[in-house]
Amino acid sequence: MTRPPRSFFEPLALGAPAPMRELPLRLERVIHFLPPQIEKLRANAARTAVEVDVLCGNLEDAIAPGDKAAARAGFIEMAREVDFAAHGTGLWVRINGAQSPWHLDDVSEIVAGCGEALDVVMLPKVEGPWDIHYMDQLLAVLEARHGRKRPILLHAILETAQGVVNVEAIALASPRLQGISLGPADLAASRGMKTTRVGGGHPSYGVLADNAGDGEPRAFIQQDIWHYTLARMVDACVAAGIKPFYGPFGAIDDPAGCEQQFRNAFLLGCAGAWSLHPSQIAIAKRVFSPDPAEVAFARRILEVMPDGAGVAMIDGKMQDDATWKQAKGMVDLARQVAAKEPAMAAAYGL
Ligand code: GLV
Ligand code: MG
Repeated sequence: MTRPPRSFFEPLALGAPAPMRELPLRLERVIHFLPPQIEKLRANAARTAVEVDVLCGNLEDAIAPGDKAAARAGFIEMAREVDFAAHGTGLWVRINGAQSPWHLDDVSEIVAGCGEALDVVMLPKVEGPWDIHYMDQLLAVLEARHGRKRPILLHAILETAQGVVNVEAIALASPRLQGISLGPADLAASRGMKTTRVGGGHPSYGVLADNAGDGEPRAFIQQDIWHYTLARMVDACVAAGIKPFYGPFGAIDDPAGCEQQFRNAFLLGCAGAWSLHPSQIAIAKRVFSPDPAEVAFARRILEVMPDGAGVAMIDGKMQDDATWKQAKGMVDLARQVAAKEPAMAAAYGL
């Protein structure tokens, strides 16, 4: 159940800012995870901010219990010292879940300490709309207490079987929701998938060609183990007007595998992916920026049929209103990339 239409956009606490009706137009191809308790990485954060679209301070898994308080304090220090907005870079935080002993301090200290610098709170292990409603209310209370002018957005990580079952309701639960990321490592654990990986494929998941009976080896084609979940998540997000993201790819030593997994997500409609290591930043930026040759073709579609009406042929390919819409989406994204990266502007001829 969501709130009735007339109150959907009302603030949930007296003095909290009204929810946004439209998501801010942001390029979010790469969400770079940083463990904020590490001073050297914090000291480098201003430089990292120039490289990435979003910097996310990680407080949850991969941060040892003994480091949780230092990670929280380090994140607040970084939010105060580095002007992420000046670079057009988003500042996100992945907090610990509501069942953990760190959750309340994470949320309350971070909202109190970061001022307007914080853009998005990432909530792990979201299982249903009730998790979103709870966070929505808590953030509104804290926004009111600390005089936030613009609402903090919420991002859900889809990483339990129950979350997948409820993904459509999660996506629709609140106007505070900015997007959903696939969390393949926790999801694999939750489902009892027989893997030990953080995202990516598995060499045994595939199809075997029919037995021709000629004694020749049968071709085996590996399949994408995440296809169903990702496609369902993309539909849930787009139907709700929020953004879908691939999450982490843990094999840092396999850049080609990372690139392919990210590319599948891009082609299915995702806006970006996480980077867990500096070497994955360039991969995500490359993959989630449209290919210059595709952009050139898309621009031709828009030139040949400026308002999308009727039908046209370009190089033997039929064009109509539907291809016009695809082309428009691609050129709009290319313009966003071009506005941020002069080299890509040149590659797109924009
Ligand atoms: C991310 O948090 C994951 O579990 O894959
Ligand atoms: Mg996880």
